[in-house]
Amino acid sequence: MENSKLVIIISAMTGNHVIGNESGLPWSIPEEYQQYLDFVEGNTVIMGRKSYNIYGKDLKKTRVLVITRQASITGAKAVPSLEAAIEEAKLHTQRIFIAGGGSIYKVAIDLADEMYLSFIKGSFEGNTYFPLIKLEDWDIIREENHSRFIFKHFRRK
Ligand SMILES: NC(=O)c1ccc[n+]([C@@H]2O[C@H](COP(=O)([O-])OP(=O)(O)OC[C@H]3O[C@@H](n4cnc5c(N)ncnc54)[C@H](OP(=O)(O)O)[C@@H]3O)[C@@H](O)[C@H]2O)c1
Repeated sequence: MENSKLVIIISAMTGNHVIGNESGLPWSIPEEYQQYLDFVEGNTVIMGRKSYNIYGKDLKKTRVLVITRQASITGAKAVPSLEAAIEEAKLHTQRIFIAGGGSIYKVAIDLADEMYLSFIKGSFEGNTYFPLIKLEDWDIIREENHSRFIFKHFRRK
């Protein structure tokens, strides 16, 4: 359907679902981060306030909605919940990317239509995790092997 809006989770994680540590990403893979920026450019990105504080500065050509209990956020629109953010985003763009962090993915995984997930090769420590993926709920419609990560495009069955 040409007109339907797509809610897409975008994330990078290790094989055991580590997505972050105190300072940001536990790895440095510019090719993977650039792929993320290219996917979201020109669309709407929804993220939690802590992730916005880390990554918001890189999203200059993207409409950003920040989930927070605060009334306002410098440089982006503050919204009180993921559901409110999705409603708002649907007014503006066809593709709506949900870009973390852990607290937001936990709720988003039951709402998203698709997921763009990079599985980082190697082992990295962290303190924030992506939720369990119930593989029976998803088809993997594309898989690409890059030197330092495997990209998988999931679509809800
Ligand atoms: N690898 C990846 O793809 C990726 C992507 C993004 C982030 N990360 C990592 O994830 C970590 C951050 O994740 P996190 O879980 O700690 O923080 P987060 O999800 O980015 O942000 C948490 C904040 O979002 C707001 N929030 C969350 N749930 C809410 C709700 N139900 N209602 C209203 N506001 C709500 C609150 O903001 P207020 O406190 O302002 O109210 C809360 O403090 C970092 O390590 C980051 O590097 C990794």
